[in-house]
Amino acid sequence: MAGMSSPAQPYFQRHIFFCLNERAAPQACCAGHGAQEAFAHCKKRVKELGLAGPGKVRVNKAGCLDRCQGAPVAVVYPDGVWYSYVDHEDIDEIVESHLKNGQVVERLLLPADVGR
Ligand code: FES
Repeated sequence: MAGMSSPAQPYFQRHIFFCLNERAAPQACCAGHGAQEAFAHCKKRVKELGLAGPGKVRVNKAGCLDRCQGAPVAVVYPDGVWYSYVDHEDIDEIVESHLKNGQVVERLLLPADVGR
């Protein structure tokens, strides 16, 4: 039908989910490693760069993504690319390189064997 997007055209081009979960010490968790600040910073940058909105990028909160040993973690879909970040510069690089230009930031990739 005219004007309707097909299932092959997703509403958002890319989604980044930030785990904001908190777990009791001594368990590793994202909330204990600046996840909330990183999420807020990412949302701000995506908006500033004009990347936010339908057909573009969505920054979402998430509960535990079950890979807590790599905390703090975030995942980009539909690419299925997982990151472990440290500071705002890391977030800026993910936004600029991956969310904007589709280039994976290799240096921040979460190793495949990192789990809960
Ligand atoms: S607490 Fe973040 S992945 Fe589990």
